[in-house]
Amino acid sequence: GARKYAGHDYLVKMVEAAATTDVPIALHLDHGADFEICKAAIDGGVNSVMIDGSHHGFEENIRLTRRVVDYADERGVFVEAELGQLAGVEDDVSAEHSVFTDPDQAVEFVHRTGCHSLAVAIGTSHGAYKFKGAARLDFERLSRIHTLMPGYPLVLHGASSVPAALIEEANRYGARIEDAQGVPEEMLREATTMGVAKINIDTDLRLAAVMALRRAMAGNPAEFDPRKFFGPVRDAIREIVQHKMKNVLGSAGRADDVIGAAS
Ligand code: CO
Ligand code: CO
Repeated sequence: GARKYAGHDYLVKMVEAAATTDVPIALHLDHGADFEICKAAIDGGVNSVMIDGSHHGFEENIRLTRRVVDYADERGVFVEAELGQLAGVEDDVSAEHSVFTDPDQAVEFVHRTGCHSLAVAIGTSHGAYKFKGAARLDFERLSRIHTLMPGYPLVLHGASSVPAALIEEANRYGARIEDAQGVPEEMLREATTMGVAKINIDTDLRLAAVMALRRAMAGNPAEFDPRKFFGPVRDAIREIVQHKMKNVLGSAGRADDVIGAAS
């Protein structure tokens, strides 16, 4: 979706400009649907790709993922794959029902593809409407996968928390986002103790951005300099990223670990 919206080269150049700080930054392709898009992203300079073959059968997912891993390995690029299926909608990715990841299949999948991390389905879903009743993740399943592959990095997609305060604030300024529900942050912290090394939270960033934009516009009806609106959007994104790193992901202040692990 991002590549369609902004263009691959434009995105790479923006990240290159941002990467001049001493903060390690990875540019990652999310939900690559086939070999060609992963190859284009790798050739165009990303550090990491996801090949999402989760909608294929087990053997076809392995074949497709293996092909991407072979291409990426020769170029020092990291590959995330997915086994199992998440419900919900993200850009062009959508599924009505979820299929939870089978732990024994996960081991075989990682062994046969050589993928560097694996997105698993344990009850999270894409978008802002994750649970009808109480939030529930299958920690037994996650723990089983982690026990079978200790130290192997797992990924949770669709793991935004959809903070109620953000929704209320957005709705106060004209949004109409109702019955939204995400994954409670304490569940995400628990997941980080069971091999989960990457947690995808784009819905939270989108909500923060739109809330800030609505609030800034509502408060300044005579303003027509768009920077007066997009500045507060940037501040809101910064604030929620800080909060996530410190309080949920446990990644704040660990730049050296990341550099050490990558080299
Ligand atoms: Co995503
Ligand atoms: Co996703």
